[in-house]
Amino acid sequence: MKKIIVIPGDGIGKEITGSAVAVLKKIDEKFKIGLEFDYRDAGGASYDKYGEPLTAETLDACKAADAILFGAVGGPKWDNIEVSKRPEKALFGLRKGLGLYGNLRPVKIYDALIDGSPLKPEIVRGADILIVRELVGGIYFGERCESETVDGVERAWDTEIYSVPEIERIVKLAFESARKRRKKVTSVDKANVLASSRLWRRVVNETAKDYPDVTLNSMYVDNCAAQLAINPTQFDVIVTSNMFGDILSDEFAAIGGSLGLLPSASLGEGTTGFYEQIAGSAPDIAGKGVANPIGEILSAAMLLRYSLNEEKAAQTIEAAIDKTLADGYRTGDIYKDGLKKCSTAEITQAIVDRI
Ligand code: IPM
Ligand code: MG
Repeated sequence: MKKIIVIPGDGIGKEITGSAVAVLKKIDEKFKIGLEFDYRDAGGASYDKYGEPLTAETLDACKAADAILFGAVGGPKWDNIEVSKRPEKALFGLRKGLGLYGNLRPVKIYDALIDGSPLKPEIVRGADILIVRELVGGIYFGERCESETVDGVERAWDTEIYSVPEIERIVKLAFESARKRRKKVTSVDKANVLASSRLWRRVVNETAKDYPDVTLNSMYVDNCAAQLAINPTQFDVIVTSNMFGDILSDEFAAIGGSLGLLPSASLGEGTTGFYEQIAGSAPDIAGKGVANPIGEILSAAMLLRYSLNEEKAAQTIEAAIDKTLADGYRTGDIYKDGLKKCSTAEITQAIVDRI
């Protein structure tokens, strides 16, 4: 048996993990993998029940599982609680607790959705990018101060900090990933200003010597943000820090036409992989049955690929999604006149039917 912990979390998390599990069950019928699902709470849902966004028991259960399928956390209901109890803390606790340093965020532009992109079709057509985001270091985990008063003036601060081994392992992951793609790595930093970025660039250049078959270029983050809008097809693999990766991956998602389409895989030192769509909990549409589940279903495909080594099953899901979109099924976020407007459940069924 392969044990998958399902953490629906908050907002649309329950709806989209429901869709991904329905797809995985159909896959399991077909490929006889032997999937077992175990449900846990995290984020606001866990805070409401246990007073903690992530319990030690849930973290232990995750460590013992083959993979985690995660929905989303957060929402206005928990905006004003103490910082250490905020729903996002569950995500950080899981990322850090499982040592998930490498976050893979693939962005593909579907031909069927090309006019949904805010960019002109001739600019965006063919864009196919993998963002490799460092996930357990940098300013997200550096020392911080919520408030201090110096000379009568209140201030707060955070620290961007990276060590050589932390940079090395994420950069290696990027080079290895590029070898399976178009063999091009763009490392994104702010080395004209930040010391941590200058170290980052040095380690990237050093590591690149072990990968002579892969082309490397380094780019400042502000330029990268512009290049993404001007000429997104120049990129293959992008490797960057936690914070820059967070920002750039939303920009990427947007040029694809909807945040709801993007999956991610978080991999690390251990054997447990973590899979989530990247759009967040979308509290404004939660519970209405209209969320786009495709990013989460694609995350389930990544789970099969990276944690269970079931490449064929992963491709089967991806092909079913291509077919569903080509056949005109659309949730509201990607709907266009003349196509079939679907609820979360309807598009999920259309995908299941194509497996
Ligand atoms: C993401 C999200 C998270 C992050 C939030 C929810 C804390 O935006 O996974 O990109 O910033 O890492
Ligand atoms: Mg983000």
